Amino acid sequence: MSDRYAVIGRPINHTKSPLIHGLFAQASNQQLEYGAIEGSLDDFEAQVLQFRSEGGKGMNITAPFKLRAFELADRRSERAQLARAANALKFEDGRIVAENFDGIGLLRDIEENLGEPLRNRRVLLLGAGGAVRGALLPFLQAGPSELVIANRDMAKALALRNELDHSRLRISRYEALEGQSFDIVVNATSASLTADLPPLPADVLGEAALAYELAYGKGLTPFLRLAREQGQARLADGVGMLVEQAAEAFAWWRGVRPDTRAVINQLTIPLE
Ligand code: ATR
Repeated sequence: MSDRYAVIGRPINHTKSPLIHGLFAQASNQQLEYGAIEGSLDDFEAQVLQFRSEGGKGMNITAPFKLRAFELADRRSERAQLARAANALKFEDGRIVAENFDGIGLLRDIEENLGEPLRNRRVLLLGAGGAVRGALLPFLQAGPSELVIANRDMAKALALRNELDHSRLRISRYEALEGQSFDIVVNATSASLTADLPPLPADVLGEAALAYELAYGKGLTPFLRLAREQGQARLADGVGMLVEQAAEAFAWWRGVRPDTRAVINQLTIPLE
């Protein structure tokens, strides 16, 4: 019988994970089954344990269960700890191990696929929720000259800053970004889910080399539209991140790193 994996979330009907992992398995000649499970708000933990008891080897975790998966685990990677969230679990030797590949997936997409290394660049992250928590450690390790987190709720940004004291990390109010320029700006707020826009001062985006929208498949979000209006030519959405975090999980589970380019191309929806 082939090894079993699954993604669990709520809702789960739009997930691309089975498609992505199916393509990885095919391309790397791995025998595995990858399904999708609608998570239950009451029984999430029991569902994970049941999947494991039925021979499951690992799971991807999506909203709203990343924190609960993290808490359920017996062991947690450093980046999962900082994110306080797990997006992948591995079942091995009777233990549940938690990882978080969202940040490294985002970093790989920006550096490898979009060709914008973070080293010595000025990087702006919008938001201070789970997505930013996941990105912080890999981003700082990539050596930007400065990493700025802008958020409406400064208490949340400050809490992050206090957890991770680093000389290159700074927090800012949106208004205080006026007159500053960045090489890479990532919208990691959930504003795009409600077709909203973070309160960015004019021209913060215009100078940037890359405007990256974490949401995937939403076309030209207000953030990307603003970037284009401000003269920003280089726009990206989160499709590459989605595929790269999946590749990290696949490599962690299977010991084989799949090629991502063809899968990203297959999933890309033009930004119009
Ligand atoms: P997630 O874990 O998915 O990142 P979250 O923890 O709810 O979700 O965080 C959402 C982030 O998007 C927060 O940083 C939030 O900003 P505040 O902390 O200031 O509320 C941010 N956000 C949501 N809607 C926004 C909007 N319209 N403009 C700016 N930031 C927004």
